[in-house]
Amino acid sequence: MKEFLIEHYLAIKALHVIAVIAWMSGMFYLPRLFVYHTETAPGAADYRRFVTMERKLLKIVMNPAMITAWILGLTMAWLMDYWPLHWFQAKLVLVAAMTGAHHAYAIWARDFARQRNTRTARFFRIWNEVPTVLMMGIVILVIVKPF
Ligand code: HEM
Repeated sequence: MKEFLIEHYLAIKALHVIAVIAWMSGMFYLPRLFVYHTETAPGAADYRRFVTMERKLLKIVMNPAMITAWILGLTMAWLMDYWPLHWFQAKLVLVAAMTGAHHAYAIWARDFARQRNTRTARFFRIWNEVPTVLMMGIVILVIVKPF
């Protein structure tokens, strides 16, 4: 089993990067949807349309992509025994933070769906930058492997 997976390591890595791109597309777009959502009145037709867009983005794209990225990433770490390496440990910290942001977004989308959002457009604009900064750190760590 392990030998078979090592033989296909590059294919696993390609699928990991594909899943990561799908996950990141949602992480960049969802807070932008929240910004527009704050500009609509609860119960209005455009408000409800944003609720649907946010729910579908999370359920159809972001959740499956995040789970796939985790499974394939941990599989590669297991195959290559990356656990003791510092670049990998640092990457895990940033990826855990990205996962935390994902969960916060899911809670905020649920608050909109229940017409209970109290957060401002400015709040979501600031949060819009968080996945960008995390993504830059993660990519540098995994490609440069500086330590
Ligand atoms: C979800 C948890 C994640 C885990 C456990 C994980 C783990 C890994 C591992 C072990 C590798 C192989 C490194 C190598 O062979 O040199 C890898 C590759 C890669 N990961 Fe992740 N990763 C995760 C999420 C992410 C995220 C969120 C991003 C980007 C935002 C990302 C970007 C990349 C890239 C670009 C590569 C290819 C690097 C190369 O060319 O060798 N990963 N990941």
